[in-house]
Amino acid sequence: MNVPPVDARQIDRAVAILRQGGLVAMPTETVYGLAADADNADAVRAVFAAKGRPADHPVIVHVADSIALGRWARVVPESARALARDFWPGPLTIVLPRSARASDLITGGQDTVALRCPSHPWAHALLAAFDGAVVAPSANSFGRVSPTTAAHVLADLGIKPHGKIDLVLDGGPCPVGIESTIVDLSGVAPRLLRPGLITREQLQQVLGRTVEAADADAPRAPGRLEKHYAPRTPLALVAPESLRARIVEFAARRLAVLAPASELGSSDPNVVLALPAADDPDEYARLLYANLHRMDASGAELLMVAKPPQGPEWLAVQDRLDRAQSGAALLPNPPIQRL
Ligand code: TXA
Ligand code: MG
Repeated sequence: MNVPPVDARQIDRAVAILRQGGLVAMPTETVYGLAADADNADAVRAVFAAKGRPADHPVIVHVADSIALGRWARVVPESARALARDFWPGPLTIVLPRSARASDLITGGQDTVALRCPSHPWAHALLAAFDGAVVAPSANSFGRVSPTTAAHVLADLGIKPHGKIDLVLDGGPCPVGIESTIVDLSGVAPRLLRPGLITREQLQQVLGRTVEAADADAPRAPGRLEKHYAPRTPLALVAPESLRARIVEFAARRLAVLAPASELGSSDPNVVLALPAADDPDEYARLLYANLHRMDASGAELLMVAKPPQGPEWLAVQDRLDRAQSGAALLPNPPIQRL
């Protein structure tokens, strides 16, 4: 992946904006985040307002290094240090009992705080220069597909005065493409709250113990709510072997299709956009949101996505697709219910 070299002047501008309580969209290795000074309550409130995000949804505090664990968490177990040692900087978020520095605004009133140290060179440069911490939810309107390019952020949130934020740092397309893995270390047993590039198996290997699986109704991770990561257009997951039949069945509708190249026909008149799906799970994840954004903008009335294979390495992608499907506006017409 080609990440453009960090532009020091842009970083300086971003730091000045953060110090004044402004909002900066920053590239991370997972998705673009909407950064604001974590120690400035008004700035944190402005993030929620720009996203249209409910106040009880906690945000992740992004830090420059693992030393910051002890500033934001009142207890830092050896398990957290071990995970930070192996996976930071990188796409892993660790939930710990909060310190007094983590306000109710950040934690949604919970007694825990989520911490992450991103590896993207631009995010890293920003955090190092800012010499503080930033909250950074994904830089999209609440409930919409997360942004993996600067253009996605501009199209959704936009720059003031017409838009909602102060600056977008363009660090190229995000190399991971889906949000960080979240592991909760605040309870008796470690628990996976959101699957991501770093798998449960990898966490277990480092911790030397079982990590409880992501629980469908885990109450503490609203990112796991349905109606998240959803395109505006209805989306249907279909078995790859029935894709051809579905395309024909929906001949009267404009479709956008994401499926293995072998399943894509060459000339279905109702298919306005056909995107080949990667057969490697990490590559699939990297392109997933960009593909959903493209399909959503294609003028299609229905997005058809071939179900990816089973298996633990596909869990994070499967999780995002399930949510995209359940969150997408339902087509008023009954046939979609049968897919
Ligand atoms: O990859 C990522 O994590 C991206 C980039 C920008 O770093 N950020 C991101 O933020 O995905 P957001 O706000 O879209 O998702 C944050 C998730 C939510 O599901 C939230 O519920 C969970 O983190 N979270 C935050 N604080 C938590 C806490 N104290 N306990 C449990 N879950 C928490
Ligand atoms: Mg998000």
